[in-house]
Amino acid sequence: MHPAEPVFQADEGLNAKYRHFRVATDRDGLAWVTMDRQGASTNTFSREVMEELASLVDDLVARKPRGMILRSGKDSGFIAGADVEEFKAAASVADALAIVRRGWDTFNKLAAVPFPTVALVRGFAMGGGLEVTLACRYRIAVDEPATRFALPEVMLGILPGWGGVMRLPRLVGPSAALDLMLTGKSVDARKAKRIGLVDAAVPPRVMENAARMMALEAPPQKKLPLKERMMAGPLKAVVANMARKQVAKRARPEHYPAPYAIIELWQKYDGDPFAPPAGSPASMATLAAHPTTRNLIRVFALQERLKALGKESGFAAKHVHVIGAGVMGGDIATVCAMRGLTVTLQDQSAEKLAPAMKRAHELVRKRIKDKYRARDALDRLIPDVAGEGVRRADVVIEAIFENLEVKQDLFAAVEARAKPGAILATNTSSLKLADIAARMKDPARLVGIHFFNPVPQMMLVEVVKGEATRPELARDAAAFVRQIDKLPLAVKDAPGFLVNRVLGPYLANAFRMVDEGIAPETLDRAAEQFGMPMGPIALADTVGLDICAAAGKALAGADAKPPACLVRLLEAGKLGKKSGEGFYRYEKGKPVKGQAGPVTEDLVRRLIAPYLAEAQKAVAEGIVADADLADAGLIFGTGFAPFRGGPMHYLAEGGKA
Ligand code: NAI
Repeated sequence: MHPAEPVFQADEGLNAKYRHFRVATDRDGLAWVTMDRQGASTNTFSREVMEELASLVDDLVARKPRGMILRSGKDSGFIAGADVEEFKAAASVADALAIVRRGWDTFNKLAAVPFPTVALVRGFAMGGGLEVTLACRYRIAVDEPATRFALPEVMLGILPGWGGVMRLPRLVGPSAALDLMLTGKSVDARKAKRIGLVDAAVPPRVMENAARMMALEAPPQKKLPLKERMMAGPLKAVVANMARKQVAKRARPEHYPAPYAIIELWQKYDGDPFAPPAGSPASMATLAAHPTTRNLIRVFALQERLKALGKESGFAAKHVHVIGAGVMGGDIATVCAMRGLTVTLQDQSAEKLAPAMKRAHELVRKRIKDKYRARDALDRLIPDVAGEGVRRADVVIEAIFENLEVKQDLFAAVEARAKPGAILATNTSSLKLADIAARMKDPARLVGIHFFNPVPQMMLVEVVKGEATRPELARDAAAFVRQIDKLPLAVKDAPGFLVNRVLGPYLANAFRMVDEGIAPETLDRAAEQFGMPMGPIALADTVGLDICAAAGKALAGADAKPPACLVRLLEAGKLGKKSGEGFYRYEKGKPVKGQAGPVTEDLVRRLIAPYLAEAQKAVAEGIVADADLADAGLIFGTGFAPFRGGPMHYLAEGGKA
């Protein structure tokens, strides 16, 4: 045994008393508390777990250890936060407030213990999982990619009410704290160290020793720099107002009250969720009763459901071969390489591959800050003009241009060379799987894996099961989609699948409204008022007007008359953002917009109605298995206003089509 390794003595008394925690004391008199929620693969704070922790803290105080170290007994990570199921099940505002009260009281009790406390964090520490570390005196993070810290409460429409709003700004200063709390984004161990969220980021082999030394030495706590103290003191109101302005760019208070509540709670009540009076924008009761909160929790559950789809198969790819290094193929290949897969990328010539490799460099450098990890990702991406990778690949993804004959020939050739168990997938947007597989010996081997543009940003991937596709193959494809950290949605092989089918009539209708003389700016403003992240016209410009026209033709039939505005722009070579001009002119990638006209309720209704109607039709035709999955797909695939809980939910709640 390593000389520094602690020798543990289990505390039988406490271990018999608690189900979710184990306690052992080392020879220095430090109590090692391991949280290990029974009956779950991930640690979360259910009511029972929280009550145990509160009682355990009392027991520890009575035992007077020299210090305490809190760690996780799960391989999956540290602690994922509150048990969202319990929050979802909270029948009344009072129930929701009781959950907040339990965590707030327990963590305050933990923060007040007279001995040094250290949180040893390996893997994710989310929400309440991060807040419990804030209630410890010190934090040690294990420097591995899986270690991430975040306060994602804002994404569920709530706020970090277990002491996060109070303790995080004190620890890292208001700017870093507000940034984390208002965006919900996560930071890794090194960033956590840089901003002062943790005291040390250490490799796994020394983690226990580092925690032990921290508890024994109990160094004095660092003071915030003067600038941060000013921001938390005399400049607090200025900082709060600046934060409000930042938030206002992304979220309206009537749609998303939580970020505004967080700012108010920090500014006026020092993060105490029970201090604001009823009616204050910072009131937890107001927040808990707001429909957005319920809907965002619903969106979270939908996301979990999509993730679960990827767990139905144990398929795990090592090598992916991508054919076609254009807009889609190049980015698909890069995303796979960034997720640790070996990727061979094929196109017709080295010249055709070069731009994709250049884009891959840019994307990897932007996304992976650690230069060694970035280099490793790029090393995994191999240009392969001859297509040799097909023989070794576990997944072959075809993303060549939309030409049926060429795709048919390609798959006949790929089938002959690929491994027998490999997933053979097409990224087609508009062709039928049965047609593409026409020249294959075994059409059951073909599945659709349909990505969205821009691939690195878009979470959703449609997994298309053709009539002939082997069902296990679709499940394997979903597991692969999870492997690259996207959300799989099973869809039927019908024109437009789910997302493009619903977007088609929505955009076509918006174009017709432009033909009627309504300004694009007005339409985009109307959609934003409804809660879309981007209006239909800006969306069309971003996708590319040539692609919109082609998709429109594929969905509406070649004989349908295309909208005049679209024809005019295409004739003038204005393809949208990529050509510098479409409906809008682009300067440095940003649209130059004119004044929007007045937006009436009727205008919003007319604009959104085709979207809602098409979503209903798609569900009725069984494109996805149920209405919830349509909501999930349309939220993650088109950005449909998350605070409304999805188009089908919106209709069910009385929203008008
Ligand atoms: P693209 O035109 O940008 O790229 C196609 C690439 O395939 C070109 O580099 C071309 O040289 C290469 N290619 C053509 N035939 C080939 C062959 N026989 N062997 C190897 N490489 C070959 O096209 P894009 O936009 O990337 O689309 C590709 C596929 O993805 C299409 O099926 C399209 O329907 C689908 N798709 C496109 C989306 C988009 O927004 N662009 C979104 C989702 C799917």
